Amino acid sequence: MNRAGKACVIGWPIEHSRSPLIHGFWLERYGIEGAYEKVAVAPDDLKDFLASLEANGYRGANVTVPHKEAALALADEADETARAIGAANTLWLEDGRLMASNTDAYGFVTHLDDTAPGWHHGGHPACVLGAGGATRAVLKGLIDRGASDIRLTNRTRERADDLAREFGPAITVYDWADRERALKDCGLLVNTTSLGMVGAPALQLDLGGLRSDAIVADIVYAPLETELLAQARERGLRAVDGLGMLLHQAVPGFEKWFGVRPEVTGDLRSRIVADLEES
Ligand code: ATR
Repeated sequence: MNRAGKACVIGWPIEHSRSPLIHGFWLERYGIEGAYEKVAVAPDDLKDFLASLEANGYRGANVTVPHKEAALALADEADETARAIGAANTLWLEDGRLMASNTDAYGFVTHLDDTAPGWHHGGHPACVLGAGGATRAVLKGLIDRGASDIRLTNRTRERADDLAREFGPAITVYDWADRERALKDCGLLVNTTSLGMVGAPALQLDLGGLRSDAIVADIVYAPLETELLAQARERGLRAVDGLGMLLHQAVPGFEKWFGVRPEVTGDLRSRIVADLEES
């Protein structure tokens, strides 16, 4: 493959996306004369933008809020993961056809594998907080890796009920008020809500019910060390931050566009952490 080429990330707004930093780091690391751009695309312009992706010299794109669902609908072909999640975050061209995938589930699970190896071996229940777009990716990742007892709890219960209907019998819904009860004997807790993020309220949750060897994962990465993760560490639990998911979800797209499977390294992580600390 001719390795020069360009890709982009599209969203509305797009200013805060860290994807250009991640892909820019890899382009440099692997000596590829490519480019990765940030493009603000208004919702009304999405269809035209994607139709002219190839004509504008792009090999593909990452897709972020609010275009992930629409990008899935506009793609010529989508893989099973994107269809199950109901959203696409990675697009590429194949013989002029627009292909779509969603690499968030891969990113989440790969980061868990890296930082908490064996996380899925115990067969203990898992608890997932939230019922938004990120929750769908986490549920898909967990179920694909064999999780069969997932307790799902969300402030708006109906959204959790909808996910349980869609994702099947592995999921049991708990009321948000009962979230501490839902933690009882769980080996894994995942926060997929925005609680704990800079500017959002804190997540009020006592982790006392979890197993003593439990893993606590947060998809929030700003701040990197959320109060939830700090509490987990204080209790001697394994804490998994949200940044790894962001880094790992970028790997498959880079490989599709630039022909090299990039590595998520400590250097890359430090580069993004420095940027998070500046902002
Ligand atoms: P995304 O698609 O990025 O996951 P989202 O759909 O807005 O974003 O989801 C945000 C999640 O955080 C939801 O689960 C939301 O709960 P609701 O479904 O009840 O809105 C949760 N969330 C946000 N603010 C919250 C709060 N103050 N208390 C509890 N949950 C909250």
